[in-house]
Amino acid sequence: MPMLLFTRHQLLTRWYEQHARILPWRETRQPYPIWVSEIMLQQTQVKTVLPRFVDWLTQFPTITTVAQATEDQIMKAWEGLGYYRRARLLHQSAQHLEQHYQSIFPSNFDDILSLPGIGRSTAGAIASFCFEQYTPVLDGNVKRVLRRWYGEENCAEKVLWQRAQQAIDIAVMPSLWNQAMMELGATLCKPRNPLCNQCPIQAHCDNAFQDSVQKKSKNCATIKNVYWQVHLYHDEHLGLWLHQRPRNGIWGALWSPPITELQEEPAVQPDHIHLLTHRRLHLYAAHHPSKTQPTHGSGTWQKEWHTLALPTGIRQLFQKLNM
Ligand code: ADE
Repeated sequence: MPMLLFTRHQLLTRWYEQHARILPWRETRQPYPIWVSEIMLQQTQVKTVLPRFVDWLTQFPTITTVAQATEDQIMKAWEGLGYYRRARLLHQSAQHLEQHYQSIFPSNFDDILSLPGIGRSTAGAIASFCFEQYTPVLDGNVKRVLRRWYGEENCAEKVLWQRAQQAIDIAVMPSLWNQAMMELGATLCKPRNPLCNQCPIQAHCDNAFQDSVQKKSKNCATIKNVYWQVHLYHDEHLGLWLHQRPRNGIWGALWSPPITELQEEPAVQPDHIHLLTHRRLHLYAAHHPSKTQPTHGSGTWQKEWHTLALPTGIRQLFQKLNM
């Protein structure tokens, strides 16, 4: 059991301060640009949002400019970001703010939540980033972090909200905590191949989760590329020259043409690639003229070769070769 000298909160926030990506919406506490960034980021990747966020603020520097734009102008400015409903709701919200809040973004959580297009997680992000309120974020990234952290892959959303609230309640700076959780989920605690070894709160994370990740990544690490030449002796009268593979080893006891392993990757594309648990088999067909006496290993001519137990990789290779 490792010594836990620092709390999870200290470790995570220190990591965030040292490693966080520099993103323009993190350089401000103004609600309007933060709101725009959160809406854009709801369904779009950071790298896509970056230039569009800057363009948007150039075209619409204030809530009033959004409220007074036509729907066509809003749609045009949103072009390429997808999920256009977000843009329409942003427009409606800006008009609502102009009419009821003198274009001043509210700081009250319930008022923020009541705006069209803003759900509980986005409201939590805005209220914490702009006003240091103890309101958790629970987007896809944060859900994954919490599920792994507690070792509860199928944890219900309601329970996740409770856990997220408990976690932020003991934070020193809610804005920092929410940003750090989101950053951890986006950069290390990724859906596939999470980088547990670099994680600042690895020692606090559920061991069952880490064991399963490590097992999986061990498999990934040992996948080896091999390059096999598959020798095809095909005679219209005699059939196909096959042998039954040794019992132990890849494709044990199955029927296959003779195979030789190439020491180097050929310069040509393989005819087929077949994936096994620990091997990526690159198969290259070597066609030998009919009537040639096979020289590759012991084998027999098989007329009814279609009916034999062939490895899937070989069957797929044959299909590709129209055999
Ligand atoms: N995704 C949603 N909100 C974000 C933020 N503030 N920073 C980075 N990615 C995000």
